[in-house]
Amino acid sequence: MQSIFRGRHFINLEDFTKEEVDTMLEVSLDLKKKFAMGVPTPYLLHQSMFLMFFEQSTRTRNSMEAGFAQLGGHAGFLDSSSMQIAHGESAKDTAIILSRFGHAIACRYCNWGYGNKYLTEMAKWSSKPIMNLQCDLYHPFQALADLMTMREKIGDLKRVKVSIIWAYAESHKKPISVPVSQVLLFPRYGMDVVLAHPQGWELPDWVIAQAKANAEKYGGSVTVTDNEAEAYAGAHIVIPKNWGNWVNDQTGVAAAGAVAVVDDKLKAQRFWKCTEAKMVTADKNVMYMHALPADRNNEVEDSVIDGPHSIVYDEAENRLHTAKAVMTLLMGGR
Ligand code: CP
Repeated sequence: MQSIFRGRHFINLEDFTKEEVDTMLEVSLDLKKKFAMGVPTPYLLHQSMFLMFFEQSTRTRNSMEAGFAQLGGHAGFLDSSSMQIAHGESAKDTAIILSRFGHAIACRYCNWGYGNKYLTEMAKWSSKPIMNLQCDLYHPFQALADLMTMREKIGDLKRVKVSIIWAYAESHKKPISVPVSQVLLFPRYGMDVVLAHPQGWELPDWVIAQAKANAEKYGGSVTVTDNEAEAYAGAHIVIPKNWGNWVNDQTGVAAAGAVAVVDDKLKAQRFWKCTEAKMVTADKNVMYMHALPADRNNEVEDSVIDGPHSIVYDEAENRLHTAKAVMTLLMGGR
């Protein structure tokens, strides 16, 4: 077990060794059991932190806010549009001031080409941990909760086939940060990862290269395909989810909600939907996962997301327990 976490930033799970990720999972499970038994967990008593959001959130905001209260602290929600950021205040000044006021800063900023740079700049100047609540490249809290969920359901994940599958959506042009974090993390647990998407929705080359290096090191595999049927065939876990074609996008416009997403190129891919017919080609005990929110009846049929193979609510619940574990380790550990 690795136990030196205090004061570190949490921006990308690649910054943590596998042993450290294992420790995060162990602490998450311990906190989950205590939550179920009503055992108080006042590990961060009287601490304060700031939750900065440039975009909307249901799970991330509330898992952090409720989770931090359950640890004995107070988390203040900050909508970036009502901060002096709206008048151009820099990441440096914001980070220095907020880190003098409290014990950690967490931030969601998904703007393509800007989000990760903004968080990295904050991390350079903040005297307290910076936590990534999703940027344009990574969503470490989501990937950690997904890993915890798969471990709870299956146990040892070695040689388990998990398929990360692009899916059609009209709700908004979603960031690539969820599939990027998953394709980097899952091979570290020896999983056979299949990444399937139509041409034009590639993840960056350096992500695939790093994912394959992780697979090589830990005994998993990474296959990239534009064949959706190959991804479903015999899969133990499927994660069909939309992401935008950001990689060649030079606009840098907001990822969440501000972009007209439905064009002819996208519409041509509307058959990339998770259906019951596709699910029957997977393993008989296949599990359906989605980070949520799902674009129902575009990304997935209701009968799948509401059906017996779906574990989306267990997955979402684990956002709470993993968030509490990371906050406890970074803010309360030694
Ligand atoms: N999965 C996830 O990050 O959900 P929110 O956008 O609601 O936070």
